[in-house]
Amino acid sequence: MILLDGKETALAVRQEIAASVAAATAGGRRPPGLAVILTGEDPASQIYVRNKEKACLETGVIPFSFNLPATASQAELLAIIRDCNARRDVDGILLQLPLPGGLDSAACLLSIDPAKDVDGFHPENVGRLSLGLPGIAPCTPAGVMELLCRYNLSPAGKKAVVVGRSNIVGKPLAMLLYRHGTDATVTVCHSRTRGLTREYRNAEFLFLAMGRPGMVTGEMVRDGAVVVDIGISRTAAGLCGDAHFASVSLKARALTPVPGGVGPMTIAMLMKNTVQLWKNRMAVS
Ligand code: GUN
Repeated sequence: MILLDGKETALAVRQEIAASVAAATAGGRRPPGLAVILTGEDPASQIYVRNKEKACLETGVIPFSFNLPATASQAELLAIIRDCNARRDVDGILLQLPLPGGLDSAACLLSIDPAKDVDGFHPENVGRLSLGLPGIAPCTPAGVMELLCRYNLSPAGKKAVVVGRSNIVGKPLAMLLYRHGTDATVTVCHSRTRGLTREYRNAEFLFLAMGRPGMVTGEMVRDGAVVVDIGISRTAAGLCGDAHFASVSLKARALTPVPGGVGPMTIAMLMKNTVQLWKNRMAVS
């Protein structure tokens, strides 16, 4: 069984990004800038944001941190986004989700300049992805694709099953999998799907993003499947993915660990997207 090591792969990606940033800035270009907006005190979000800022420093990206209390108003949040849209030194804007209750995340995402939308959550970028136009893809699905690519695991012509239909993971991942050039045959399942186990067993590539720790066991998985575990849940035993690791690893050809699989890749793709937006803006300014 191949263990898909996201930690090691993400390090390699970050090193490549750092080298490309260093080469451009040595030539006199200003460094890329990423605004990271955290609203409220959700502990998981605080950890994610800290890791994102750490990755910025490692790759030569300048992080601009905005921390708002959970009591912040929609108008305050929109004002920060507006400022970041206007700033020349900010290339990417990351609004950490979920927002505290009472704040309208769809309206906030819509107010981000699509040219600075580092997560690819703005409807314009979602539309671009669905039409196959160049643009920014959301970091977690992009990280999944990068990990498969670096292990030479091509889903072309294969049965891919995505479990979960969120805007952040399931939907964009399905689009990346079936688009021209990747060419998987994709089934998207969710909590209302009848006969889920049958769908799992059918999958040559199985992508789990439902956030149910240890739900999928080895007997539910096809022999030789590639299993990418995108679930991450905090349990008494620590962080846990959607796959029951010990039993799935006996059936799968390749499997991502949790933690150390998709998570680090997500952050590496955030850096990649930031640098992409920076280069796009350099080309026009
Ligand atoms: N919350 C959970 N995942 C993500 C992500 O990829 N981006 C943002 N902005 N918030 C998240």
